[in-house]
Amino acid sequence: MSQQAAIKPFIEVLAGRRQAVPPLWMMRQAGRYLPEYRELRAKAGSFLDLCFNPDHAAEVTLQPIRRFNFDAAIIFSDILVIPHALGRAVRFEVGEGPRLDPLATPAQIDTLARQADFSKLEPVYEALRRVRRELAPEIALIGFCGAPWTVATYMVAGQGTPDQAPARMLAYRHPDAFQTIIDVLVENSIQYLLGQLKAGADALQIFDTWAGVLPPREFVRWSIEPAKRIVAGVRKQVPDAKIIGFPRGAGGMLPAYVDATGVNAVSIDWAAEPSMIRERVQNRVAVQGNLDPLALIAGGAALDRAVDDVLENFAKGRLIFNLGHGIQPETPIAHVEQMVKRVRAYRG
Ligand code: CP3
Repeated sequence: MSQQAAIKPFIEVLAGRRQAVPPLWMMRQAGRYLPEYRELRAKAGSFLDLCFNPDHAAEVTLQPIRRFNFDAAIIFSDILVIPHALGRAVRFEVGEGPRLDPLATPAQIDTLARQADFSKLEPVYEALRRVRRELAPEIALIGFCGAPWTVATYMVAGQGTPDQAPARMLAYRHPDAFQTIIDVLVENSIQYLLGQLKAGADALQIFDTWAGVLPPREFVRWSIEPAKRIVAGVRKQVPDAKIIGFPRGAGGMLPAYVDATGVNAVSIDWAAEPSMIRERVQNRVAVQGNLDPLALIAGGAALDRAVDDVLENFAKGRLIFNLGHGIQPETPIAHVEQMVKRVRAYRG
């Protein structure tokens, strides 16, 4: 079968066609819970060296596909490659997470480059081309970026914080300066996502991991509006681009996010209330999620019950089975196998 003719169940759902067996993948599916990842990670040097080596990044992207035959591969990279390409210093401390030079005052924000150096991201495009060549035609390849709000939280604070107070405070005190960061991220994210589509991505996901710390008014300005501009900017060049939004923790703001942004699907976390999602979200777009990653660590009967809950709640409509957030490093591989088997046995 030619690449064009092959049906990708993951893309079918995004195009509005429910599948009897929901397609399945996991956020952070390439990562430390896999021994083959840890082995390559140890050889690669720094985390960014791993991201920017096309051979290694392609290999790590394919590792979970070989093991679990997921319906989608997500390119191995990170949301912080955009600040890196904007010339900010970005490094990943082992066991501590990302560290950046903080961008904490309007004067510092004035010095921010407006245009990323996309030659720095060429290895990501090359990894996408390699993965697309090796991937079976029925498996989708996902490109991604961080949402401007979430990327900005790390740029402002210079690291992750429990509730992203530094970025929230800057946005209250200096909204115009903060808007500048968001505008720069919107424009460069559009270019980056278009580059990923050109290199072979079949769909795109926008990760807004920290959307849930925003009150409604701020959520509209800093999460919905930028996502809407990114979707419009990508579709201006590629009108049928398939895009998933993940405004984690959005709760009751999800219907507004869906209506305003025009995404094809939203990824929902495990706290989302099922009837609200069915009646006000899944009636409009596909839903992706939402197994609690801790149920996947727990395994056994608790995992079976949690998988069945997701299926009962959402599989009658358009569903892409996933976790409510990324898989955690301590997750046993046997539990992932148990989950995959149970989802694939579903006939609805
Ligand atoms: O999903 C995938 O398998 C693709 C790769 C991917 C990574 N990060 C690899 C990674 C994706 C899609 C991301 C997105 C990302 N990165 C987000 C949004 C999604 C989410 O999980 O909330 C965020 C907030 C980041 C920023 C980031 N990168 C943090 C906070 C950390 C440290 C925490 C951690 O999990 O270690 C990273 C590092 C990172 N990104 C790792 C991986 C596999 C671990 C680093 C290592 O292996 O040494």
